[in-house]
Amino acid sequence: MIRAFDALSLPLLRWFDPEDAHRLAIQGLRLLPPMRPRPDDPKLAVRAFGLNFPNPIGIAAGFDKSAEVPDALLRLGFGFVEIGTVTPKPQAGNPRPRLFRLERDEAVVNRMGFNNDGAAAVLRRLAGRAHLGGIVGVNVGANKDSVDRVADYVKLIETFAPVASYDSPVLLKIAPDLSLTELDDVVHIARSRRVDGMIVANTTTARPSTLREQSRAGEQGGLSGRPLFRLSTRMVAEAYVRAEGAFPLVGVGGIDSGGAALTKIRAGASLIQLYSSLIYKGLGLVDDIKNDLASTLLRTGRDSLSEIVGADAATVTAEDWPV
Ligand SMILES: Cc1cc2nc3c(=O)[nH]c(=O)nc-3n(C[C@H](O)[C@H](O)[C@H](O)COP(=O)(O)O)c2cc1C
Repeated sequence: MIRAFDALSLPLLRWFDPEDAHRLAIQGLRLLPPMRPRPDDPKLAVRAFGLNFPNPIGIAAGFDKSAEVPDALLRLGFGFVEIGTVTPKPQAGNPRPRLFRLERDEAVVNRMGFNNDGAAAVLRRLAGRAHLGGIVGVNVGANKDSVDRVADYVKLIETFAPVASYDSPVLLKIAPDLSLTELDDVVHIARSRRVDGMIVANTTTARPSTLREQSRAGEQGGLSGRPLFRLSTRMVAEAYVRAEGAFPLVGVGGIDSGGAALTKIRAGASLIQLYSSLIYKGLGLVDDIKNDLASTLLRTGRDSLSEIVGADAATVTAEDWPV
């Protein structure tokens, strides 16, 4: 059914302005029948942050900013859902257009500006579905006009802890544009303050010279999708060697195939997340990645993905810096 949905919706959604297409996708997911997801291969299960993930593939923050469709996403086969970014007050974000497809690069540039319905509305939605289970994390941020950003974070973490699966475990999401000295500091502080994990990484302000859609690439904002893969994977490996096993990493950035997922895991990610590739490949990608990971485990005689997390971290950190 998901394949049929992709075959129909992908070419259709491409005709719409990207933000309208996103809204339509959310509305479509609201209509998804309440079917049960197919059970995952037990070998794909991951234990991290004291939680049991049925599979390692999550949807990244920014797709379901206001928790409108977390259960539909879980039913589609995601092992976990990260909603948000949620700010204390509702926020309109930047003026449109603020989302751009770079088709030939299978990339996206966005400067949404944390548009969301605000903490009260999101809390109500999450409290209403808490009994359904499934791993739903909340990504929190400060309002644009905040006078005390630290206080906002503290308050939001306290607000959402009872309804979020991983906002009691607290994870720190970093930009891929940190220098290695900055990364040293961030990992050091995360370890000393007993942060539970890190999400590596957000969108990049960089514009690789290889981008084909040069005019769209000139739009201000964060770049995501395939051209982010190498840089964000390098940052996963760099964070992994610095964390020395103190906490697990969630790897995100440009994952668009089973092979890319495996590379991210071997670089140091215990869990992975997708966003931009879903625009180009459709929701069937989730099953494709799961099938590829399961068959790799079978072929190599391994019982779980944990056996290969970080296997290539040292090698990746020795490569030339991705440009
Ligand atoms: C349209 C869009 C909106 C996003 N909004 C958020 C957000 O609100 N908070 C956040 O932490 N990351 C946000 N992200 C970043 C993603 O969570 C992810 O880190 C990034 O896109 C890299 O993954 P990808 O290459 O698979 O898309 C957004 C990304 C996109 C494309």
